[in-house]
Amino acid sequence: MEVIIVEDEEQVGKLAAQEIARLIRRKPNCVLGLATGSTPIPCYKELIRLHQKEGLDFSRVTTFNLDEYYPIDPRHEQSYRYFMNVNLFDHLNIDKARTFVPDGMAPDPYDHCKWYEEQIKLAGGIDLQILGIGHNGHIAFNEPGSSLASRTRVKTLTEETIRANSRFFERPEDVPRYAITMGIGTILEARKIVLLATGAGKAEAIRRSIEGPVTSMCPASALQLHPRVTYLIDEAAASRLEQKEYYKYVYQMAEQLKKKILAIV
Ligand code: GLP
Repeated sequence: MEVIIVEDEEQVGKLAAQEIARLIRRKPNCVLGLATGSTPIPCYKELIRLHQKEGLDFSRVTTFNLDEYYPIDPRHEQSYRYFMNVNLFDHLNIDKARTFVPDGMAPDPYDHCKWYEEQIKLAGGIDLQILGIGHNGHIAFNEPGSSLASRTRVKTLTEETIRANSRFFERPEDVPRYAITMGIGTILEARKIVLLATGAGKAEAIRRSIEGPVTSMCPASALQLHPRVTYLIDEAAASRLEQKEYYKYVYQMAEQLKKKILAIV
């Protein structure tokens, strides 16, 4: 695992956007896995800037979002579809028909989950998956106890997640009790994964995810099983990592090596 520790959320956003931009330039028809939440917002702002100021072209890009509340109308301001439109898609030259978000109004959510998995396969799989992390270590809406081999499915949200997300709704009772979410097994099939985390509130989840045992009680710890994962986190989120100084050293050494290789070539 690669752990990159930077100063603040702006830096996290910039580096994540640069990674996405590199992929789009190398593979204009790439498939991105996207996340919602407050953490990726600086990254999405930077992607919009790269599109508007530097011509980053999204016209052939396909995206799959991790999750959506259920039931929820996609036009509801708190739906993840609405979030993605307002914070990213509306500002890019992306074809909305190629932006997939689970349907919060699907008449048969179980069937819809199967359909969603099929669409990911038909698109050729996800090249780069962006992830956030919940305070309890959840990724997407895979709450503690989720099977590490799980696929896209309907999940019942924990009280903790409902409480954390109620800040966005008018009343706590308005938070949907279910979600449709990619499974941990689905996420692990992405070719590359970048997990973003910022703020001291995420420090414990980050510690458990990187340095704790692989356990369904911390769904993000399953990422230890993936060969290409980068944690892009700020100082506050890194504050509980036992090996923090070592990760910084490894990153500096890797950067130095890259420069040396470039100088030789
Ligand atoms: C939600 C989402 C997750 C997200 C998490 C953290 O529960 N389903 O995908 O990673 O919240 O959100 P935030 O970035 O706002 O802390």
